[in-house]
Amino acid sequence: MTEKTTPALDLSDISLHYGFVRALDGVDLHAHPGEIVALLGDNGAGKSTLLKVMSGAHRATMGTIRVHGEAVSFHTPSDAAAHGIQMVYQDLALVDAFDIATNITLGEEPVVRGPFGWLGWLDRKRMRRDAEQELATLGVTTAPMTRPVEMLSGGQRQVVALARSAVRVTGEEERGGILLLDEPTAALGYQQTRQVEDLIARLAARGIAVIIVTHDLPLCFAVADRIVILNRGRKVADVRTRDTDNDSVVGWITGSKPSQFAPTEPV
Ligand SMILES: Nc1ncnc2c1ncn2[C@@H]1O[C@H](COP(=O)(O)OP(=O)(O)OP(=O)(O)O)[C@@H](O)[C@H]1O
Ligand SMILES: [Mg+2]
Repeated sequence: MTEKTTPALDLSDISLHYGFVRALDGVDLHAHPGEIVALLGDNGAGKSTLLKVMSGAHRATMGTIRVHGEAVSFHTPSDAAAHGIQMVYQDLALVDAFDIATNITLGEEPVVRGPFGWLGWLDRKRMRRDAEQELATLGVTTAPMTRPVEMLSGGQRQVVALARSAVRVTGEEERGGILLLDEPTAALGYQQTRQVEDLIARLAARGIAVIIVTHDLPLCFAVADRIVILNRGRKVADVRTRDTDNDSVVGWITGSKPSQFAPTEPV
């Protein structure tokens, strides 16, 4: 799609070592505003590691990251958030004891000013209303807002985590937010997977760049504009979805199909 514009997110030559494990090896990846990129690969291929480099949770050993053309260096996820980047982690980070509304608005709670201006307390009613409104706009339905997250099913938790990041990233619409999703539908049933598919498409239509890690190939073919495949820490394919098919993608994932980017040394 919008190939001539500056990518919202642009990684080049990213390498990351966990001790002796080379999790990422010279990976390039970009996503334009409004583009949905699926990041695929077998277990341990480096997908979560690459997303965590983009979200500021991990630092690359080598390589550069640009956000809307500007070179950045992330030390923490809040550095990335300050650049409009939100991530839903594979291992969800929700606070069990809090209810849904609190989890969604966590970190940006509306505070009521006391009579002397300094007595503040959380405006819970408003929080619930805001969270409900946001979820309705996004087309996400889940359990009642007041239910503690520890009482939710795995799938409902996944929806809440996704909704939270979706709410935050839509707040970044102006400058072009970036949403990173690590297997967001792994715990979801049929209906909710469709809902997430719609949500992703709607966010992209609003100019958000979405990078989604998934093992669900039908989902990938349904939503992605472009497919990037990692094999043991290396990028082996980067293709427009309409220019490829299921067999090729499976071949790149398993390694039976040669990389598009010929290795310099024989394997
Ligand atoms: N914290 C860590 N310390 C050491 N090695 C790690 C760590 N996290 C991941 N690895 C290793 O890095 C490699 C890439 O892992 P990563 O989690 O990125 O894979 P993935 O593609 O997300 O796999 P999956 O589909 O199973 O989620 C693997 O070999 C893994 O064992
Ligand atoms: Mg992973």
